[in-house]
Amino acid sequence: MEFRSSVVPTTPFDDQKPGTSGLRKKVTVFQQQNYTENFVQAILDSLRDDLKGSVLILGGDGRYYVKDAAKLIIKMCAANGVKRVIVGHHGLLSTPAVSHIIRKRNATGGIILTASHNPGGPDKDFGIKFNTRNGGPAPDNITTDIFNITVSLESYKIVHDLECDIDAQGDYAYSVDGNEFTVEVIDSVADYVSLMKQIFDFSSLRNLLEGSEGQKPFKVLINSLNGVTGPYVRQIFVKELGASEDGVVNTEPLEDFGGLHPDPNLTYAAELVDALKEGIHDFGAAFDGDGDRNMILGKNAFFVTPSDSLAVLGAHLHHIPYFRTTGVKGFARSMPTAGAIDRVANAVAVNFYEVPTGWKYFGALMDANRLSLCGEESFGTGSDHVREKDGIWAALAWLQIIACEKKSVEELLVSHWRKFGRNFFTRYDYENCDAESCATMMNKLEQIVTSPVYVGTKIIHRNKSYVVKLADNFCYEDPVDGSITARQGIRLLFADGSRIIVRLSGTGSSGATVRIYVDSYEKDENVLLEDAQDFYVCFFLLACIVSFDLLVRNEVVEYQKPFIQYNTASQVVLAPLINIALDVTEIRVHTGRDAPTVIT
Ligand code: G6P
Ligand code: ZN
Repeated sequence: MEFRSSVVPTTPFDDQKPGTSGLRKKVTVFQQQNYTENFVQAILDSLRDDLKGSVLILGGDGRYYVKDAAKLIIKMCAANGVKRVIVGHHGLLSTPAVSHIIRKRNATGGIILTASHNPGGPDKDFGIKFNTRNGGPAPDNITTDIFNITVSLESYKIVHDLECDIDAQGDYAYSVDGNEFTVEVIDSVADYVSLMKQIFDFSSLRNLLEGSEGQKPFKVLINSLNGVTGPYVRQIFVKELGASEDGVVNTEPLEDFGGLHPDPNLTYAAELVDALKEGIHDFGAAFDGDGDRNMILGKNAFFVTPSDSLAVLGAHLHHIPYFRTTGVKGFARSMPTAGAIDRVANAVAVNFYEVPTGWKYFGALMDANRLSLCGEESFGTGSDHVREKDGIWAALAWLQIIACEKKSVEELLVSHWRKFGRNFFTRYDYENCDAESCATMMNKLEQIVTSPVYVGTKIIHRNKSYVVKLADNFCYEDPVDGSITARQGIRLLFADGSRIIVRLSGTGSSGATVRIYVDSYEKDENVLLEDAQDFYVCFFLLACIVSFDLLVRNEVVEYQKPFIQYNTASQVVLAPLINIALDVTEIRVHTGRDAPTVIT
């Protein structure tokens, strides 16, 4: 059958500016007439001369509207001269899997249907993200181009009656305007699983999980939070590595994630934390909706901060077969991420980079062969095997190290801190605030910290004092192409190495989210093992400190739930710096909030 494309007139939307990771909005926004069509047309137009005859990978995290959007995108690709669309079965592909398949199939790019860790459902979030030929998120010049196209778009192209059954694997060929157009519906997990088998030693991982040479089985609990990783987790952990059926949970991708908030942190993956606290499992991991984020826990819910996770992986990378072949080219972290990896890079003498928030900056360094391992405080860890962060990869990397070192998660961390010192780190998020007030706050803060007299200022909180060594709005110069990315967050760096960072999130779907990051380095043996203190003692101390501060300020503040959430040791050690951060930013005044929405 011969299909004909149509050109449909449209009017532009003015709010289609992609954020850190694509365009994210409420589903209802995407469902407005022509809204999704316009944005997809802009992505396709941004390919310019590469569009005709292109090959695109397509898949998403299974959230509500993924299937509708995938079918629509296929119709639009057909009309725009794309040669082949390779789409995941049922429209499912994890973000790292898309990255891998783009590279493996030498595709022109990929379209990922996800709002990552944001909740899903008819009244929740959806997102569309474009990845380029290298497998990574589109760089700023391309997302700017896409946005510029959206604001002047007058029409889009579509083949209305072209249907493709993405629920059945196979090749579908069509003739559109006299040209061949094909859709390949692929197994969502096969390519990714074979990549993992090339990177890791699966037989040693299987021995670890099943137990061998008199060793007890190492019990894992993997929680997919009903996101896209479920089928990958079942295939890898249960079928390949022999984990028990009850060692994997929430492995059915659901359109509303079963009501879960698929963000693997101590707040939203509390179910995993509570299960690990029972002391039955040796290792726990959770992943976000699209499978790029991870959280790692040890026995009894011993929490590994993402910054520490990166550093421990860096220090033991030689245990992973992949890096024995490729060598270790360099390490990197995003600017707000705690500086634990910095010292490992120094110790093993490899390149080290500090980049703005957003995975695309790492990708550029990897493409230039300068970077092997990187991570972000926002629960992202990854390597140059793909150009996205990769949750399952991170869990396997931990298991590979545990298999070789024969130590528990906690033992690995403690010996790491003894050798390198420890970065205490916490992040306070104030979600969904008024965007204008937050912009005012950031401008005011920038003015204060960049005034010439600010460096050298001594800020005192109770018996702790900090001297400002450097304060600025972070500006990154890409070491490969020299491009400049300015105003990436206010930094206050203190003489003792402690840091306070303030930035606005680039991934929210409504309002503004302020993030305050506090990082302090400690070498003192007595402070290093704060986690060993009883949880309730920590909580009591924290409560005293906070209430004392509030009393002194004569403020009546309702004690909100996030304060008693986890990462308690950091809250105690960092209390003076946290209070300084709250004061300098005047966050309460600007947001009208007494407490953050989430603390990690
Ligand atoms: C996404 C990106 C990450 C980035 C994060 C930051 O997850 O893939 O690379 O760290 O967004 O989000 P934020 O809300 O802090 O801008
Ligand atoms: Zn994600």
